[in-house]
Amino acid sequence: MEKLLHVINNWASIRKYKEKDIPLEVLKRILEAARLAPSWANTQPWHFIVVKDKSKKEILKEVALNQKFIDKANTIVVCCADFSAWKNENRLKEMNKLWKVLGRTSDESEMKKYLENPVMNPALRGEQVLLARQYEQLSLAIAFMILQAKHEGVGSCIIGGFYNHVTGGDLELYKRVVDELKLPDHLLILTMVTLGYPDEDPDRRPRKPFEEIVSFEEFGNKY
Ligand SMILES: Cc1cc2nc3c(=O)[nH]c(=O)nc-3n(C[C@H](O)[C@H](O)[C@H](O)COP(=O)(O)O)c2cc1C
Repeated sequence: MEKLLHVINNWASIRKYKEKDIPLEVLKRILEAARLAPSWANTQPWHFIVVKDKSKKEILKEVALNQKFIDKANTIVVCCADFSAWKNENRLKEMNKLWKVLGRTSDESEMKKYLENPVMNPALRGEQVLLARQYEQLSLAIAFMILQAKHEGVGSCIIGGFYNHVTGGDLELYKRVVDELKLPDHLLILTMVTLGYPDEDPDRRPRKPFEEIVSFEEFGNKY
């Protein structure tokens, strides 16, 4: 337990990388950590594209407002929301598997009833709500990914500052990325993660004190 907190305590985003290549098996373990992350009713609404190609990395840098360090990373993981995962037929498939494991009777009509409830089916609440849920799911997978990377001695930085249909900006550039990565329509890039062996050891960025962000039983009560 303490060991994990120690890893977390040493967390810092890394923006300077050595030339050293990240071996395939290390990258696969980093991606495996993302695959194993929890998600809404096990929807797993994500797809990750591992980019190592120099010219592709340059375009990713451009779409990310030319943040200079991006194409210097050994690898960029392009993290996409997969909207098809929220379609009822796909949700039913995953729910079937999940309910079996949970020992619940996988009665299709009961599952369909469940999917008629907007609380359980954010797709019924419209695009904005679904998008919020998408960020939520991807964040968990990315958290798992960057912690595994740290554990492997690989530095990373989450990139949210880039043009897409959520942030706006140069959507033609985003379209170029879509073409370059051959992204199907049901995928939308929400985040990128740069990966590489650290060539810096930055000071830890400050966090709010524990007492400021945690209360006991009611707001403002010290824990
Ligand atoms: C959702 C998200 C988006 C981010 N986007 C960027 C980004 O576009 N460029 C960048 O350099 N850092 C980005 N960061 C990294 C943060 O700036 C960084 O995590 C924060 O300043 C705290 O520093 P630390 O990670 O070193 O502790 C992002 C972090 C998160 C969680």
